[in-house]
Amino acid sequence: MLSGAEDALSVVHAHILACTACALHRGRTQAVPGTGPASARIMAVGEGPGETEDRLGQPFVGAAGNVLTRLLGSIGLRREDIYITNVVKCRPPGNRDPEPAEVEACSHYLDAQIEIIQPAVILVLGRHALARLLPGAGGISQIHGRRLVRGDRLFVPLYHPAAALYNGGLMRTLEEDMLRVRGYLDEADRERALRAAPTGAAEPSTPAHDQLSLF
Ligand code: URA
Repeated sequence: MLSGAEDALSVVHAHILACTACALHRGRTQAVPGTGPASARIMAVGEGPGETEDRLGQPFVGAAGNVLTRLLGSIGLRREDIYITNVVKCRPPGNRDPEPAEVEACSHYLDAQIEIIQPAVILVLGRHALARLLPGAGGISQIHGRRLVRGDRLFVPLYHPAAALYNGGLMRTLEEDMLRVRGYLDEADRERALRAAPTGAAEPSTPAHDQLSLF
């Protein structure tokens, strides 16, 4: 039986698959809603489907997807445990940048996915995801690898995996940033364990105001 969140996510996926809200639907083979469990603690958000994704109906299954899968694996994460999606759910023609009106038309789908999944961490892949999720936060070259809190959510902007395919130096940067992500996740796990501890059990070793208040 599906959980309430899985049900809700399936409904969002069905709406995306039938969506005609912007011109991108005319050129698509199929829309690409996202993959992964509704219970995922980590969500990754890219730009939009490419040619392979459009054909297969899944995000990040082309060359950039191979990089993403390898990077996740490098810090002990399995791709199938992560919810992966994009800012726009239909392929922009010729892989051009999505236009503002297209991002806007798709906006409520991404909002709904985040609301349902309630991820502990959102990996923000590249400048389009950054502009959509963290407007005004700065450029990707300034803030990649940092943990940014907005509202009750933790975001980590990263270079887009496709950029590393064309720039070997960026691959190294991405690998280093992923190690930081591992550290943030471990920190979040420790915080969660402390919160779950019964009253009177081991007290945190750092003062309350220095702790993460997110998890
Ligand atoms: N594949 C995706 O699904 N998204 C991207 O941003 C790039 C490749």
